[in-house]
Amino acid sequence: MRRPMVAGNWKMHGTRASVAELINGLRHLALPSDVDIAVFPPCLYINQVIDGLEGKSISVGAQNSAVEAMQGALTGEIAPSQLVDAGCSLVLVGHSERRQIIGECDGTLNRKFAAAQACGLIPVLCIGETLEQREAGKTLEVVGRQLGSIIEELGVGAFARAVIAYEPVWAIGTGLTASPQQAQDVHAAIRAQLAAENSEIAQGVRLLYGGSVKAANAVELFGMPDIDGGLIGGASLNADEFGAICRAAGN
Ligand code: PGA
Repeated sequence: MRRPMVAGNWKMHGTRASVAELINGLRHLALPSDVDIAVFPPCLYINQVIDGLEGKSISVGAQNSAVEAMQGALTGEIAPSQLVDAGCSLVLVGHSERRQIIGECDGTLNRKFAAAQACGLIPVLCIGETLEQREAGKTLEVVGRQLGSIIEELGVGAFARAVIAYEPVWAIGTGLTASPQQAQDVHAAIRAQLAAENSEIAQGVRLLYGGSVKAANAVELFGMPDIDGGLIGGASLNADEFGAICRAAGN
């Protein structure tokens, strides 16, 4: 059985003061023991969060990392090796905001994914279609291409130590959520694409759904057979709401 995971992507939100408040809220949560829980603060606050959550079983990850694994001459970037040094265990790769606003392409993301794994970080590969692509009936083609890029470059074995987050772009931060069946259909296609290469890896990899997940819709989404938890944006900035979502993923 796959162990569910709920991850909070704080995006570019927070100040030292608001992060301290959020840490305090998280520390007081009753969390399920059968769910892996992680938060992804802005890099500046990673140390503060790791210190603040000491003793609480919440992993900490980064929202982005460099294309090179090790520290070196690469102005403005943060190496996966530095994230490991700070105490991170995970990193997001290819969030749609980075694909769309920063212009990160599959080639760059393949390098980031590989560099992260080379240091022992677990990459959380984010994939998803835009509204235009969905309306044109291209959802599975787009998601398949984003996933296929990593499989072609690094081999399906890369997903033995990775997580995938399906996040339809039209559902991110919009309050529109994919219906549980819409999300399940894409998750099943993602798992089938992996299974065509290696069924054991396909059965073991965790597929998270992201896009306006709240406590109110989490139970239904997480109840679908191929949805193994969620990547939570806005709702993860509220500790109580995040805690309720984490509990929805438990049994
Ligand atoms: P949202 O964001 O929950 O605010 O829609 C999800 C994400 O971008 O990871």
